[in-house]
Amino acid sequence: MKDKQIEKLIKEEEKRQKSVVNLIASENIVSEDVLKALGSKLTNKYAEGYPGRRYYGGNQVVDKVENLAIARALKLFKLKMTDWHVNVQPLSGSPANFALYTALVPMFDPKTSKQGKIMGMKLSSGGHLTHGYPGSMTGKIWKSVQFELGKDTEMINYEDVKKLAITEKPDLIVCGFTAYPRVVDFKKFREIADACGAILHVDMSHFAGLVAGGAYPSPFPYADTVMTTTHKSLRGPRHAIIFVKKDTREFDKKIDKAIIPGLYGGPHENTIAAAAVSFLEASKPEFKKYAKQVVKNAKVLAKELQKLGWHIISGGTDSHLILMDTWMEGKGIPGKDASSKLEKAGIIVNMNTIPGDTRGPMDPSGIRLGTCAETTRGKKEKDMVALAKKMDKILRS
Ligand SMILES: Cc1ncc(COP(=O)(O)O)c(C=O)c1O
Repeated sequence: MKDKQIEKLIKEEEKRQKSVVNLIASENIVSEDVLKALGSKLTNKYAEGYPGRRYYGGNQVVDKVENLAIARALKLFKLKMTDWHVNVQPLSGSPANFALYTALVPMFDPKTSKQGKIMGMKLSSGGHLTHGYPGSMTGKIWKSVQFELGKDTEMINYEDVKKLAITEKPDLIVCGFTAYPRVVDFKKFREIADACGAILHVDMSHFAGLVAGGAYPSPFPYADTVMTTTHKSLRGPRHAIIFVKKDTREFDKKIDKAIIPGLYGGPHENTIAAAAVSFLEASKPEFKKYAKQVVKNAKVLAKELQKLGWHIISGGTDSHLILMDTWMEGKGIPGKDASSKLEKAGIIVNMNTIPGDTRGPMDPSGIRLGTCAETTRGKKEKDMVALAKKMDKILRS
């Protein structure tokens, strides 16, 4: 590179990534092919619109790229083009959720004073900011109602969620998480959505790779819409896609319009190509093995930490993700200290609130762990046993 400053920083970051144990649940390590597509000349092309319907000329090639990404996304999740529509253009998860809500949930109408309502999991229970958190636009532009986990089980209490949904009558229920370790019962969420007449939107950003690899249940038989980022367990570039069930409600048309002209201009065709590469990679038998190993590793890590006396939220995990209570009501250490102690020893995690956290998001009671990146590096169960011991020693030092 001619730009020596940036070249040096890229090398520094490569070195940092190689030298640490990465337990950030939302990160992964992409293939060289994904990187090649990202760094390709596709980045030079402006392509506002959709394949065959663009505002600019010269889209013969990028139309093929985008159509290939769509076809691969459908194949990966075993969906038929006649039943599901895919928009592969969203630049990331948050704007994808935002665009979808603008399409499907009414905004404040000054004439009638009516405002649509979104129902999602509370941030401290494991939901994402874009699931109606009051500080997010999704909690400002729309009314928002948030459900919490059952206090005894630290898991979703479907009866409580149903009662809340029937009382609150949201227009859309978003189910999915950013820090919930368990399997979500999508069938029950479908019943809840039907009981209150809401749209069921599944945000599978975290577990999409596990669904693709057959290590987590698929939300597609039950959802109206599904959004996923492509950069977490799916091991693709930083990007997002939206799947929309095709039916008479024509959500597909509304969502396409919400993306462009609603929210975006030109899609990032280099990233769409990189996402297509990752979809092909995730459809291979090796990826099935990978996804299963991710979950096995997380289960072992959770169990070992538990054996060493740590409080693991919900008593374990069914996914790649573990939520660990390091504070333990004053018997341990705050999540922020835990995260910085581990980082000093080369183990990267993020501090995280835990259900019913009394300490606040900037100095919470726990940390979130994930096994996607280290499983990509080939780590197995025995490595998780050693890692748990190492973490315990560091945290108690
Ligand atoms: C469940 C969920 N949805 C949406 C997002 C937002 O994705 P992005 O960071 O790409 O905006 C995240 C990211 O952490 C997430 O975990």
